[in-house]
Amino acid sequence: MRRLYVFDTTLRDGEQSLGITLNVKEKLEIGQQLVKLGVDIIEAGFPASSPGDLESVRTIARELKGVIICGLTRAVVSDIDLCAEALRKAEYPRIHTGIGVSPVHMEKKLKLTPDQVVEQAVAAVKYAKKYVSDIEFYAEDAFRSDPLFLARVIEQVISAGATVVNIPDTVGYANPWEYGDLIGSVVKNVKNIDKAIVSVHCHNDLGMATANSLAGIKAGASQVEGTINGIGERAGNTSLEEVIMSIYTRRDGYGVESHVNTREISATSRLVSRITGVTVPDHKAIVGANAFNHASGIHQDGVLKDRETYEIIKPETIGVPQNLISLTARSGRHALKHCLEELGYHVEGTQLDEVYQRFLHLADLKKEVFDQDLYVLMGDSESGVSSIVLQSMAIATSGVEMATATVTLEIEGNMMTDAACGNGPVNALFNTIDRITGSNATLEDYTLKSVTRSSEALGEATVKLRYEDGRLVVGKGFSTDVIEASAKAYINALEKRVEFKTE
Ligand code: KIV
Ligand code: ZN
Repeated sequence: MRRLYVFDTTLRDGEQSLGITLNVKEKLEIGQQLVKLGVDIIEAGFPASSPGDLESVRTIARELKGVIICGLTRAVVSDIDLCAEALRKAEYPRIHTGIGVSPVHMEKKLKLTPDQVVEQAVAAVKYAKKYVSDIEFYAEDAFRSDPLFLARVIEQVISAGATVVNIPDTVGYANPWEYGDLIGSVVKNVKNIDKAIVSVHCHNDLGMATANSLAGIKAGASQVEGTINGIGERAGNTSLEEVIMSIYTRRDGYGVESHVNTREISATSRLVSRITGVTVPDHKAIVGANAFNHASGIHQDGVLKDRETYEIIKPETIGVPQNLISLTARSGRHALKHCLEELGYHVEGTQLDEVYQRFLHLADLKKEVFDQDLYVLMGDSESGVSSIVLQSMAIATSGVEMATATVTLEIEGNMMTDAACGNGPVNALFNTIDRITGSNATLEDYTLKSVTRSSEALGEATVKLRYEDGRLVVGKGFSTDVIEASAKAYINALEKRVEFKTE
């Protein structure tokens, strides 16, 4: 079996394109989970793009060990200098540099001739090589380039010291057989290709990113790039979990294996969704809520007789456990700890006490606490100590007149109460919180959904606030009371803003 290296770019191509700014702590939390998942490379950011990204790459490089930490640059000296500085503490640093190689990129965007592009690419690789030995070169928009020119660029950058060559379908234009042919031609025609790893990097504009990546792997690529849940620019990047489970499930057909711990897939997907605020559709392959749910009578009957009738992946393989213990208000810490461990959470001491108190509160409201409740509970509890605490709220709404909300918040130890009106209860609530906190952020998006399945379902509210400097911040709140969940989400977004200011 050939080894397939898994390159995760959730924190770069994923995050950068969302318009959502994750803070350093959030990026580190995702990075830590990616280490548990066992990806080979974490692209932590694009240091030259913003001070926040620079700091995130620095922190991730310092904190995460046993994994290659990569930073993106343009083929520009100042970008490479900054990236090298950010990666200084990495155990295994990689600089990912590159330039556009398609006619439209060269002529319209870069205003360079093909010869100048080759020159700049080679110079960037040589310059980056002064800092680190592991250099990945990306030939941006490779799929729309002239294959002969692409082969020339690739050969020259390998001669200059590139150890990995990335052949992206930047705009998601390829069909699987065409992308496979392109990778096959690079593998076959670039003379020194044996000195580098060929990497596939696809976008999902035509819904083909996973298929194209797999075609590239079949044609000889040994590294795949993508993001968790497929988040990314426009229609997104290749969903890593889809590629990982395809080569795992159909290993007969690909002849490659990854070192990823598939049992961490579900936990990673949930974490990324919670932190980025990007919801995973129920029908999403591998990680959607319905991916292992059999709805029709015929299917249920088949699965009960033999699950292979309608199931090609065991849920446990991606870390979706079977429910063996029922958690209720009568369950103790031990049962809670056991169930959390089954889900991949390791909590001890005071953190366990704190989670247990939240669990009891939830169990009092619900008859039974399910795995999905626990994911939510953990997501909520890991957000740390709050500087703004919702003490009480009262909403008056008649359906005819405007709604009124009265809210008391404890802000850094001070109790503050105010009231405001709004078009509905949530609007009144948010207006009141704005009055108390003096926030003038614009509400860009607000969603509410039920995240558990019983009639006492837990509601998850997501709030996206846009600040004057253009930053978009996501807040989440959970409660069996949807208005309280909304208030918590709004407060969570306001608190994140404070974190940015102090970063
Ligand atoms: O899609 C792309 O071409 C990229 C490169 C910057 C690697 O993300
Ligand atoms: Zn990309």
